[in-house]
Amino acid sequence: MTENSNIPSPPRRQFLALGGSLVAASLLPDSGQAAPLPRRFPQNFLWGAATAGHQVEGNNVSSDSWLLENIRPTLFEEPSGDACNHYQLFSQDIAMLADLGLNTFRFSVEWARVEPEDGLFSIAELDHYRAVLDACQRHGVHSMVTFNHFTVPRWFAGRGGWEHPDAPLVFGRYCEKVARALGDRMTMATTLNEPNLTQLLFGIPGLNGSRLGTPLDHEIIRKAGQMTGTGQFSSWIFGDFEHIHKGLIEAHKKGFEAIKSILPKLPTGVSIAMTDDQAVSPAAIPMRDRKRKLAYEPWFSVANSHADFLGVQAYSRSRIGPAGMLPPEPGMPLTDMGYEFYPEALEAVIRYTHDHIKRPIYVTENGVATTDDSRRVEYIRRAVGGVARCLQEGIDVRGYIHWSLLDNFEWLDGYRPHFGLVSVNRTTFERHIKPSATYLGTLAKANAI
Ligand code: BGC
Repeated sequence: MTENSNIPSPPRRQFLALGGSLVAASLLPDSGQAAPLPRRFPQNFLWGAATAGHQVEGNNVSSDSWLLENIRPTLFEEPSGDACNHYQLFSQDIAMLADLGLNTFRFSVEWARVEPEDGLFSIAELDHYRAVLDACQRHGVHSMVTFNHFTVPRWFAGRGGWEHPDAPLVFGRYCEKVARALGDRMTMATTLNEPNLTQLLFGIPGLNGSRLGTPLDHEIIRKAGQMTGTGQFSSWIFGDFEHIHKGLIEAHKKGFEAIKSILPKLPTGVSIAMTDDQAVSPAAIPMRDRKRKLAYEPWFSVANSHADFLGVQAYSRSRIGPAGMLPPEPGMPLTDMGYEFYPEALEAVIRYTHDHIKRPIYVTENGVATTDDSRRVEYIRRAVGGVARCLQEGIDVRGYIHWSLLDNFEWLDGYRPHFGLVSVNRTTFERHIKPSATYLGTLAKANAI
């Protein structure tokens, strides 16, 4: 199962053969009338849950984020600390995922662990991730490995992060090491997680810009630079957005080339952040298109030249007015992140992406922050229903990977938002399976909705 086989074959024929005749009935909205018939998914469809190293492992002390979380004042609500202690509990977490009925585990290798100093690669940490991949194999679970999920080594941030002219080469070197050591055990790989985030959040005027950019924010980043010993600090969304984005595009290309040079058959792609961008009036269309041009189009062309597939990650929609992003309409249901509860975004994003790329699509993240798990069930039901409609039309979607397996460290917001299918006691690290996990597992086992 974990051989480096080619990406699972296109779904359309299988989908139609298995479920096409049932589709019309099941597309009916839930009206409380006839129970909808199941819509089958293609054989080999990936059903999974995702994590990211820094958000679940704990004690990622050599990373840029650890530094930023622990200086005072800080931009973070609280430090990541032990997180979910997944670093030690990965084996039971993967067993749990498999028991639920899911067949894919998306996780990231933490660059800061593997290369804690510039050019110094840790054999022991590579061995750790080999054990994670072995656990996937043992439990019959496909692995989708993200080579970089936001966090970078502290030394890398201290030399200017993605803005440094050598950053793509340095990232390529890291990718080569990891691919050489572990690639033969991976099912699929992605280079970067959401490298377009700066453009998505800050590309056009609007709400999100208010979160960063105050004099205090600058002061914190300046202090972080002092602590790296270089006076510099740039990473993730902390730095010059344009330069960061350019650096990430080149870094992806170098990473992709490095991985493919060692494992030509390993399906390798990149995951981008997307929202369903809705212009509120004809006058807003140019602003919507400006956002698309900045945030997605560069990655569509990268995907067509330097990727075997594209990962799409969508959580909600954006309302766009002629002058920029607008808040959700009053009265619309919100998630605990403050944005709209809108599972239909996923379908719209897949359709839009399909019109622009010639590669298979995987949903590598989709989920909702809520402490009311029945809303998560509802969210999954509507989002996966959208995937089924895309498949019915022959769109080549090959997997649905939910964010997230565990309630984890949600970056600046700390542990407040709950995205997990499984909750975690932050003192004992005990896991508790929520009904939404069972629900997603049931869909996976049936390979149908
Ligand atoms: C990121 C995750 C994050 C999730 C929920 C995605 O943008 O890849 O790291 O936790 O969204 O906000």
